[in-house]
Order: sequence, then structure tokens, then C-alpha cells
Amino acid sequence: MQKIPEEIYKRINNNLYDVEGDRWWSTDFSLNLLRTLYNPFRVGYAKKIIEHFIKIETGKIRVLEVGCGGGILSEEIAKLGFNITGIDPAISSLNAAIQHSKQANLDIKYEVASGENLPFPSGSFDVVLCCDVLEHVQDLPAVVSEISRILKNGGVFIYDTFNRTCMSKISAIKILQEWKRWAIMPPNLHVWEMFIKPSEMKALLKENNLKWKEHLGLKPDISYLRMLDILHQRAIGKLTYEEFGKKFLMVESSGTQIMYMGYAVKA
Ligand SMILES: C[S@@+](CC[C@H](N)C(=O)[O-])C[C@H]1O[C@@H](n2cnc3c(N)ncnc32)[C@H](O)[C@@H]1O
Repeated sequence: MQKIPEEIYKRINNNLYDVEGDRWWSTDFSLNLLRTLYNPFRVGYAKKIIEHFIKIETGKIRVLEVGCGGGILSEEIAKLGFNITGIDPAISSLNAAIQHSKQANLDIKYEVASGENLPFPSGSFDVVLCCDVLEHVQDLPAVVSEISRILKNGGVFIYDTFNRTCMSKISAIKILQEWKRWAIMPPNLHVWEMFIKPSEMKALLKENNLKWKEHLGLKPDISYLRMLDILHQRAIGKLTYEEFGKKFLMVESSGTQIMYMGYAVKA
């Protein structure tokens, strides 16, 4: 895989995380859906994998979240007792994360940085989490190389991202962002050409001394017809984002056509 060409990268609205970064914890905000819909599954998945592979005292397990945004995932990892650091290039998102962790009395270290250039010595973390971020970066090979560098030997890299298929183009781009009847996400939140096929991810991991272990699919726990119905209700303002976020959960699926989650271990 190569760095994303400028003409494609300039289409993604990563500016959103600076312009609206103060809204992460507002319950009626699109990105807060990561907390209600995704956290229950991904936090449980991360916990299971960390506990299986890292056999040291919980409080000594050093976890880095790359692309932590407003700290929605980092806070849940901190609550499990792990020693967590979050980095993100968007300063206003990080400010929201810092402020919220203080209010919640959670000990989380936050730093401004991008995944392409991690400000940590080699071999300094036991675990790297990178959820809903890999499809946002311009230089994915550099990000995976940096993640591998800062992981200890035997450390674990846990990620989720979008697959680049016809199904993901229709669901994540057309329905969620473009077709007015259902679109509830900001335009250009995602750019389909930046989605990553599982085979591309596996090849990158291998090039970077990360032993790929598994990919599993993610899907809503309601039917796609029901989903279209509640998307429409949200799109026309009949449901708030908060009400929408209570209607279903993302759960494991055998199909990786739209979204997938997985992990690799540093050899
Ligand atoms: C959809 S949010 C995910 C936030 C968080 N990981 C979560 O799941 O709650 C994507 C995040 O990736 C960040 N991001 C964009 N480009 C990045 C890069 N090159 N390196 C690290 N983070 C990046 C954005 O600023 C944003 O906070």
C-alpha cells in the first residue's frame, strides 16, 4: 500500500475534529455515536485480547490510543485500570478529552501528535489501539511502521476500520453521507478510496513485523431494513442522535464487507 495521493486525501474532512472537536461529549452529536454504538463491543474485545497476551499487573500495562479524538475510547480503557496515553493531531478534540478526563477524575495522558510521527521511544507500549482512524490517515504505511516501532516485542496492535467494497461504498458513503433520505453523518467524514481491504492490512502488518491474528466483521444488531427506517427518522429530525444511538448496538459478524476489527502481535 502507498501513501494516499493528495487529490484523494484533500477530500476527507479531517478538519472536522478541530472545528467541532469541543462537541465529542455532547450526546446529540454524530461522533458521540462511537461511544453508544461502538464502545460496548470494541472495549470488551480489546480487554479480552489485552488480558490474553499481556501477563503483567493491569496498572502497569501501557496502552497508546492513536487518534483518540475526544477520549471516548481512552476513558473506557482507563476505567479498566490500564495505563493509557492518547494522541491526536486535532488540538480542540484533545482539549475536550483533557477537560472531560479531569471532570471524570481519570488519569489519562494526552499529547498532540499524528500517527505518522509518534513522539515515543521504540518499544515503549504494550498495546496500541487505533479505532476508526486508519481510514483517516494520509500515510498508512508510515502509521503502521510507527505503531510497530513503539510496541514492545510481544505487544498487541488492536484496530478497526472500513473495508473497500461495493457494500461499504453504498452503506458508509452513499447512505450515511450522501443520500439525503438517510444521511446522518457529515459529508466527507469518510472517503471511500481511503478504505482498506483486509488483505492490504495483512500485507502491511507483515512488512512491519506484526503477526496478523484475526479479522472479524462488525454489523448492527438490527436488520438493514430497520436500520434504514431509523436512519430516515434521524435524517428528518424525528429522532435526536441520542435517541438514534439507543436503537441498536454494533456487534460481531462473520462478514467483513463493511467494517472489520482485528489484531496483530509484534513478533
Ligand atoms: C472518527 S475519529 C476516532 C476517534 C477515536 N479513535 C474513537 O474511536 O473514539 C478519527 C480521529 O482520527 C484522528 N486523525 C486523523 N488523522 C490522523 C493521523 N494522521 N494520526 C492520528 N490521528 C488522526 C482525527 O483527528 C480524529 O480524532
